[in-house]
Amino acid sequence: MLIIVAQDYDEMSRKAARFIAAQVLLKPNCLLGLATGSTPFGTYQELIRFHQEDGLSFQNVRTVNVDEYYGLPASHEQSYRHFMQENLFDQIDIQPGNTHIPDGLTRDPQTYGEEYDELIVAMGGIDLQLLGIGSNGHIAFNEPGRYFSAQTRLVDLNKLTIEDNARFFESEDEVPRQAISMGMKSILGSKRILILASGAGKAEAVREMLEGPIDPMVPASILQLHPNVTLIADKDALSLVQPA
Ligand code: PGA
Repeated sequence: MLIIVAQDYDEMSRKAARFIAAQVLLKPNCLLGLATGSTPFGTYQELIRFHQEDGLSFQNVRTVNVDEYYGLPASHEQSYRHFMQENLFDQIDIQPGNTHIPDGLTRDPQTYGEEYDELIVAMGGIDLQLLGIGSNGHIAFNEPGRYFSAQTRLVDLNKLTIEDNARFFESEDEVPRQAISMGMKSILGSKRILILASGAGKAEAVREMLEGPIDPMVPASILQLHPNVTLIADKDALSLVQPA
């Protein structure tokens, strides 16, 4: 795994945005895998700036998001569809029909998940997958467990994830307990993966991802099996990693 050190969140965001912009320039119709949360927010701000000030075009870019809360309609202000519209899609020239996010209201998550994975394959696979890492080591909403799950599916959110995400809701009780999450097969099938981490709260998860064994209790550790992963992390997130 290539590790790129940033001083702080802003520098991480700038470096990540340049990485993604390079992918878009090299392949204007690339399929980007996208994530939500505090981590990629600054990266999306930079990409919007590249679009508005430097003319970076997303006209032919296609996107597929890694997860969505189960039970939230797209119109809910904490849905990931809403997050993506507000923080990226509505501010760039991407075609709405080229953006894909799991449907949080699907009645048949099993079939839906299978179709989501098939859609990714039909679109030629993900060229660049952007990920955050949870403080519990999750990627997308693949939570710590007894085994890695390959398929996109309905998942129960872990207690720590619910606590971490309560900051976006009025109270912890309002955080959905389930989500549709992309599985490891589609994530690991990406040609390139860019994972971001910022802040001391992620330091232990980053250390375990890099230095620990591949263990489903640390879902991000599976990235050790992928040949083309770049981690851009700030100094706080890397504070527990042994210098090479
Ligand atoms: P965060 O979430 O970016 O809001 O910290 C990361 C994640 O859960 O993947």
